[in-house]
Amino acid sequence: MKLGILLESSELEPRVALIPEAIKQLRTLGIECLIEQGAGSRAGYSDDAFREAGGEIVPSAANVLSQVNILVKVSCPSIDQINALQEKSILIAPLNEWRNAQEVALLRQRNIMSFALELIPRISRAQNMDILSSMASIAGYKAVLLAANFSGKFFPMMMTAAGTVAPSKVLVIGAGVAGLQAIATARRLGAIVEAFDVRPAVKEEVQSLGAKFIDIDLGETDTQTSGGYAKELSDNAKQRQQAALAKHIAMADTVVSTAAIPGKAAPRIISTAMVESMKSGAVIVDLAAETGGNCELSKCGEIVKTANGVTIIGPANLAATVPVHASAMFSKNVLNFIKLFIVKGEFTLNFEDEILAATCITGR
Ligand code: NAI
Repeated sequence: MKLGILLESSELEPRVALIPEAIKQLRTLGIECLIEQGAGSRAGYSDDAFREAGGEIVPSAANVLSQVNILVKVSCPSIDQINALQEKSILIAPLNEWRNAQEVALLRQRNIMSFALELIPRISRAQNMDILSSMASIAGYKAVLLAANFSGKFFPMMMTAAGTVAPSKVLVIGAGVAGLQAIATARRLGAIVEAFDVRPAVKEEVQSLGAKFIDIDLGETDTQTSGGYAKELSDNAKQRQQAALAKHIAMADTVVSTAAIPGKAAPRIISTAMVESMKSGAVIVDLAAETGGNCELSKCGEIVKTANGVTIIGPANLAATVPVHASAMFSKNVLNFIKLFIVKGEFTLNFEDEILAATCITGR
């Protein structure tokens, strides 16, 4: 069994799918690893480190693709890369079919067995394979650092000879994986943090991180699916949420918004009028910008400055801005996923396993 890793083709993607530590473990499982030259260089992992771990460095993507039975990637492969894969090979990557319909159709047509990592079920056994959680956690952390960087204010309280400075007020909207990490990071920086989520179950988690949970009567209690995800709110509940959050947004020095509904566009929560009510120098980091944005004015991949002095950041692929640890976490998740294929030392695909069944989208 030969496994391949490529240098991700986009300049904006420095992460590598597996790091040398994972290669070492794959070798002990009897899997040979072919790594395109320079694959880890943008993430801080040298060719020498891959070689020392037992990997073979090959000069080009074409050399990798023509030899491997398993390809692991950080992003969906291109049409050319899919065409260059051997028949009956296995692909493991985030595939996001809604965004990469043509690529997934080609995988189907070429009968390549592909596993979409974003579909790993949110069950306890799969927690160590969950790339969405790993990357969301990095995004939540980095969102706060970005906000601190763009804010005209300190986050912590400062007592100096030049006077006492009050701490920044940070509002986090959506307290899932990214939101909780944002809360923890903002607290570590000394900010006063409050947070809201439509799932009342997160109230205790928010409080345990030292933040205040904003209680809002949405007029409905059925806000969560049996799988633990948020449901889309009714129009009435949306109005109640907006009315209640408006004053918190107006007071905030930084807003980090992370609200998402799986498979749907991000809920619109921060209106233009709300942005206009904010203080000059305030910052909004909209982590939902890639799926339409929680803020009416955010633009994915851009920094918008409003006439009243508010900076709205709509980052794309924030996890990639921490490539060393993002690659290490992604790599660990993938390694745990690959171990599902190895039963008693043999490479076996058991589709009775709900994790494999849920993620396999082509070639089964
Ligand atoms: P997500 O990225 O889908 O959504 C982010 C947050 O936005 C969620 O907390 C959601 O409730 C909230 N939200 C949605 N609409 C909102 C609105 N209108 N206003 C305010 N907030 C809103 O969620 P994420 O971070 O992926 O986690 C969702 C759930 O899955 C959590 O309960 C988490 O604990 C659970 N989970 C379970 C895992 C496992 O067991 N393997 C792994 C990761 C998460």
